[in-house]
Amino acid sequence: MSIVEEIKRRKTFGIISHPNAGKTTLTEKLLLFGGAIKTAGAVKSNKINQHATSDFMEIEKQRGISVSTSVMGFEYNGLKINLLDTPGHQDFAEDTYRTLTAVDSVIMIIDCVKGVEIQTEKLMEVCRMRNTPVISFINKLDREGRDPYELLDEIEDKLSIEVRPLSWPIGMGKSFKGVYSLFNKKLILFTPSKTKIDNDDFVEIEDINSEILEQYIGENDANQLREDVELIEGIYPDFEINDYLEGKLAPVFFGSAVNNFGVRELLDSFIKIAPIPKPRHTELREILPAEDKFSGFIFKIHANIDPRHRNRIAFLRVCSGKFERKKNYFHVRQNKNLRFSNATAFMAQNKETIDEAFPGDIVGLYDTGNLKIGDTITEGEKGIFKGIPSFSPEIFREVENLDAMKSKQLDKGLRQLMDEGVAQLFTFEMGARKVVGTVGQLQFEVIQHRLKHEYGATCRFRQINLFKACWIAGDDKKKVDELIKSKYRHIARDKDGKLVFMAETKQWLMMVQENFPDVEFHFTSEY
Ligand code: G4P
Repeated sequence: MSIVEEIKRRKTFGIISHPNAGKTTLTEKLLLFGGAIKTAGAVKSNKINQHATSDFMEIEKQRGISVSTSVMGFEYNGLKINLLDTPGHQDFAEDTYRTLTAVDSVIMIIDCVKGVEIQTEKLMEVCRMRNTPVISFINKLDREGRDPYELLDEIEDKLSIEVRPLSWPIGMGKSFKGVYSLFNKKLILFTPSKTKIDNDDFVEIEDINSEILEQYIGENDANQLREDVELIEGIYPDFEINDYLEGKLAPVFFGSAVNNFGVRELLDSFIKIAPIPKPRHTELREILPAEDKFSGFIFKIHANIDPRHRNRIAFLRVCSGKFERKKNYFHVRQNKNLRFSNATAFMAQNKETIDEAFPGDIVGLYDTGNLKIGDTITEGEKGIFKGIPSFSPEIFREVENLDAMKSKQLDKGLRQLMDEGVAQLFTFEMGARKVVGTVGQLQFEVIQHRLKHEYGATCRFRQINLFKACWIAGDDKKKVDELIKSKYRHIARDKDGKLVFMAETKQWLMMVQENFPDVEFHFTSEY
């Protein structure tokens, strides 16, 4: 198969949702349809028990499970589908943000009872930054949920994206009868079943006004459906695939993942409309997937679960050309050649050694400390892929070494954990104080635990009050230097040596911004 044909048959995506909306369930159903797993229950939830946030066994379990379910590849209708898992726990949000840089589209699940929840809002912000195409799946229709029109309005308001329903529910909860597919003009009838794989019994209905409709759903629901369809066609614009592909419009499907309902329809529509691997930008130029030469970037690093071996798995997204095992490749940041002799592909839950991979694929590379998140690997070209930003953490703590004899181990451990993206390290210009920033409280416990068990270093985290880390920039270098001089005590460097202003409060940041109008303060490292 030519490289162009390989690219055309690849769809790489992620599922995003607020915890409990049904991500694990939907993932499992998609894998069942793809034939990648045979029985329900095979995909373990990678959720950390919400009530046991300081349970280390849970954290370790999470690390173990998430290696095997990080990337799930399967074949469906002649296509190669790569589903990238995103951690459900909000404390791992940063990991999810980065994974989203490696997908070409996402499916967003919304719980019909709860509507748009906070984590979904945050994840959608990241999708919007990159104009990622989004399909929305409104789940749990077997429960008494909110009015579908209200849910659609909420998606548009809270997530700042236009919607276009491509299916419409008939009833809800106890009276849920199924959905009408506006996309395929067919009626899909609901029978609750958690065990039947294919639960979509459907009837083709060319004309919604035909009396066949009454036979299946009764007069009341038939009339209601006709009214709804008329209304939808009236208020929502026609579905334009390009608006979806540009990230401006989210097609919406309704279903019930746990009952295997609406999932086949979602998957079949997904493979028709979801994008194939797209061109990506490096600092130097646009890279097209079909180019001869291989290129890719690292978006995730996973420490080996066996602490005695420092091996790590780096996840590489192939962006162009063909990746070949045992070939020498160029590590742009380190300016040196590397060879990956035991590259791994991810098929459903198994890892297997692969000889080649194509754009859209994710390759697991065993690494002993050469790679870090954001690294670019090429066949010699020097540009680094853009679009893998760091986001300002929410919680900051100062690192205090508790064993002076082990400061080297502590530094090394911190550096390696930061390379993995567990958290972000900021080193103050004054006094070289080290501050770790995270999205959630849980990371501090993970770091402390891993520093002790993997590096033999002990530390404490001292509470400090910081509002945000702001990456600073400006066209006028003199003004930037003035700010640095005037606020020297609050200037730090991030892992790449970039200058960051550590703002203590929102009000104070606003004041500083007023006093230095020519300096830009950014909450992300790429702007
Ligand atoms: P997550 O990965 O997004 O966190 O969600 P997960 O799939 O684990 O689903 C969260 C809960 O919602 C699970 O129930 C799951 O069974 C349920 N669920 C998923 N889809 C549907 C649906 O279509 N209808 C209904 N009614 N429930 C659904 P749980 O009680 O937390 O776990 P379990 O014991 O059922 O596995």
